[in-house]
Amino acid sequence: MKKIVVFTGAGVSAESGLATFRDADGLWAQYRIEDVCTPEALARNRALVIEFYNKRRKELLATLPNAAHVAIAQLEEQFDVEVITQNVDDLHERAGSTKVLHLHGELKKLRSEKNPDLIVPIDGWEQTLDDKAPDGSLLRPHIVFFGESVPMYDAAVRIMQGAELVIVVGTSLAVYPAASLLRYAPSGVPVFVVDPGEPDCTAVRNTIYHIKEKAGKGVPMLAEKLISELKR
Ligand code: APR
Repeated sequence: MKKIVVFTGAGVSAESGLATFRDADGLWAQYRIEDVCTPEALARNRALVIEFYNKRRKELLATLPNAAHVAIAQLEEQFDVEVITQNVDDLHERAGSTKVLHLHGELKKLRSEKNPDLIVPIDGWEQTLDDKAPDGSLLRPHIVFFGESVPMYDAAVRIMQGAELVIVVGTSLAVYPAASLLRYAPSGVPVFVVDPGEPDCTAVRNTIYHIKEKAGKGVPMLAEKLISELKR
């Protein structure tokens, strides 16, 4: 089966009702990154950081996958699909995608502040301030903060290097090293971009086909095109 790598960002979840980061009404218009998404913020103002992720987790529990997540999951019937997402929501999994790599962590998991490999699922949406990990240390959101390493990056590179077709959905490509993954798409592999805006595609050397639509419309359209071409 043809290997499709789908690289997604916050825009794929926008029509599910989750805010993006850099759109006018995005999260970074409401919060300062240095207050809620850095290791220093967690040390300096733990309550605010935990509240920020509790709010997003609570919102996620009331959110459903949209047509884009479903179309990506359904592509698995005809193709060997791997999703690499910058998103920390679980909407790809809930739509049925079976191979999802989270570059920036997962909202529904916490981890030991001492041992980053000690990851625990969270029941419900609320992490309390003094929740402890099994190793006795404090728990923190299992999120890659700005300034922290991206442990899944090398695995994501290997996946991208095996792509025979790449689909990019709903990411501004503004954040590194995530955006640099597209440099590893083998030459000659087509890159389809589904985004109503203009992502920064300077890192992309491959031929780009930009579908200037929202994900909920553009991804099902593209999926239908790929499946019909396969059957020709
Ligand atoms: N359908 C498709 N794309 C959309 C939609 C939509 N309905 N709405 C917005 N977009 C696009 C925007 O045009 C933009 O290109 O989604 C992209 C959102 O970009 P960002 O808000 O920068 O989100 P993202 O690229 O995922 O951010 C990357 O930055 O803050 C960090 O860790 C955070 O993972 C995040 C990373």
